[in-house]
Amino acid sequence: MVNNDAINKTAQYVEQTLQGAEAGHDWWHIQRVWKNAQLIGQQEPVDMLVVELAALLHDIADSKFNNGDEEIGPQLAISFLQSIAVDAGVVEHVQQIIRNMSFKASFGEIVFTSPELQVVQDADRLDAIGAIGIARAFTYGGFKNREMYNPNIAPNLNMSKDEYKNSAAPTINHFYEKLLLLTDKMNTTSGKQIAAQRHQFMLHYLEQFYAEWDGFK
Ligand code: ADP
Ligand code: NI
Repeated sequence: MVNNDAINKTAQYVEQTLQGAEAGHDWWHIQRVWKNAQLIGQQEPVDMLVVELAALLHDIADSKFNNGDEEIGPQLAISFLQSIAVDAGVVEHVQQIIRNMSFKASFGEIVFTSPELQVVQDADRLDAIGAIGIARAFTYGGFKNREMYNPNIAPNLNMSKDEYKNSAAPTINHFYEKLLLLTDKMNTTSGKQIAAQRHQFMLHYLEQFYAEWDGFK
């Protein structure tokens, strides 16, 4: 199968499968990550077929909304790529990326990495910061019925993964617990540059948020 054909078929499959998905992981998120991955990938010595397929399939089944089953995503990706006769080596690499690049994995045990994974991971992380990242955080917080902000609840940087998952902390705390830490975790040079600009934007946003909270603006 010609590469572009495989990519187009995969994009169609993902768009269909994600119909009705929540806003943080819908087809628009995938499109943004796909574009970011193309942009960053151009600057890196990577197999773009692997990068694009992994970007498209990386959230095909988010375990948070599948009773925590981490296997569903990689399995769906494997079955689909096999069904369109993608090369076995490419399928294997893509499923390894999906398995190992999640937000959770980036704060915990990492067992597999590759230049292709690093590109897709950077592309996904970029979508968690900046203006879009802020919108996604408040969307998630609203879905979980969290407070936007509570001056009496300080961010906690020492939570375990499980504590974090079950924490009902206000959404502003997520900036300090995750979002502002992502810039330092970027893998690639171009990813780091884009992240630095988005990081500054979040700092400005927080400054304005607190000023408005106190009625100064
Ligand atoms: P990813 O899909 O990138 O692996 P997650 O599924 O953990 O990441 O998060 C998806 C989106 O929801 C991200 O934009 C993230 O910042 C946001 N999010 C995750 N946990 C929280 C939280 N506790 N409060 C606010 N936003 C959150
Ligand atoms: Ni994602």
